[in-house]
Amino acid sequence: METEISALMDLAYKPTVPRNKTIGIGIVGAGAIVHACHLPAYQIGGLHVVGIYDIERSNAEKVAAEFGIKHTFTTLDELLDHPEIQIIDIAVPSKFQPEIVERAAAKGKHVLCQKPLGESYADAKRIVAACEAAGIKGAVNQQLRWAPGIRASRTIMKRGWLGEVTQASIQVNVNTDWSLWPWITEIDHPELMYHSIHYIDAIRSLLGTPEYVYADGAKFPGQVCKGETRTLIHLKFPGDTLRGLIHDNHNHIAGQEDWYATFRFEGTEGIIKGTNGALYNYPVGQEDTLSFLSKQIDPTCWLTPQLEGRWFPHAFLGTMGELLCAVEEDREPENSVQDNLLTLQTLFAAIRSMEENRPVWLKEIR
Ligand SMILES: NC(=O)c1ccc[n+]([C@@H]2O[C@H](COP(=O)([O-])OP(=O)(O)OC[C@H]3O[C@@H](n4cnc5c(N)ncnc54)[C@H](O)[C@@H]3O)[C@@H](O)[C@H]2O)c1
Repeated sequence: METEISALMDLAYKPTVPRNKTIGIGIVGAGAIVHACHLPAYQIGGLHVVGIYDIERSNAEKVAAEFGIKHTFTTLDELLDHPEIQIIDIAVPSKFQPEIVERAAAKGKHVLCQKPLGESYADAKRIVAACEAAGIKGAVNQQLRWAPGIRASRTIMKRGWLGEVTQASIQVNVNTDWSLWPWITEIDHPELMYHSIHYIDAIRSLLGTPEYVYADGAKFPGQVCKGETRTLIHLKFPGDTLRGLIHDNHNHIAGQEDWYATFRFEGTEGIIKGTNGALYNYPVGQEDTLSFLSKQIDPTCWLTPQLEGRWFPHAFLGTMGELLCAVEEDREPENSVQDNLLTLQTLFAAIRSMEENRPVWLKEIR
């Protein structure tokens, strides 16, 4: 019985890394996210970072010194030409990404792009076209797919323990200091483009792609952002039964003890409920939590496996690990730039829905 329970609790959620860990990575951009997440996650996975480049050379030097990276480069071409580097890991503001991908692809290097893949759908298509023309693999750093709670939920669904899945809900009520990213405060749709994009992609990784989106966005008195900081997104999937909900507020007025960041997935045979630990005690975070009940196992018993890790930084090993495995196995990565076009169609449909106050079909986004 004990073996049976421990088998049920093993939800195979941890990132996969390649057999060959010597594949060389070159990082473009040495900002906050590389320092806080990319490099700590790669250290956990034992990956091989060859060098780093930033237009502000001192940023690259600081990060290289802290993480023991051998090379800092003075130009992007120097990094792209380094023979040991096969993977270009991009972490700069999205508007610079298409040109960097085109230059990397022209030199036959595989790319891991940051999210959002493009600030416009046209930019994202430009990136996909560059990867396809050069025959290189392109992936996107939508790492919430690899957060322990989301990945474990995927395993539960794949094992059929929810039966037919009917509802996915992600609900967040926190206080986000957007002034940490001054450029985000200037854009039209900060919440959707830089936060809920993760929830859209995570739900897609579990349930597939919706056919239409209905969304509303609101501001909060005195907020620093130009655009919405509260969103409500309804996802309608093909058929009469499957729906998704994303409900986000970044203006919680009280202390962190009342914050929440939850997910709940329901089906005909079971329920999963959990928390996204990275947003608790932010920025320190805590481990994700998850409980599930399945009529197929025991209709009266909630199972609560202990998960290790969280969205930041551990899930960053998932996105890079998947690209490295795809290179090693010569297949497309799950988080491919092509797949991400569907996340962006959902995102831009939500934006249009907010702007025009109507449901927007994904096929309207071209
Ligand atoms: N996946 C996630 O969860 C996640 C989280 C945070 C940020 N991001 C993304 O990562 C990217 C960087 O975010 P950040 O918070 O590190 O920003 P940041 O401002 O802290 O760092 C950006 C760095 O890029 C450098 N840079 C800018 N343009 C460059 C160029 N053309 N070539 C080389 N270097 C350049 C800057 O000098 C800076 O050091 C953004 O696209 C952001 O959306 C993703």
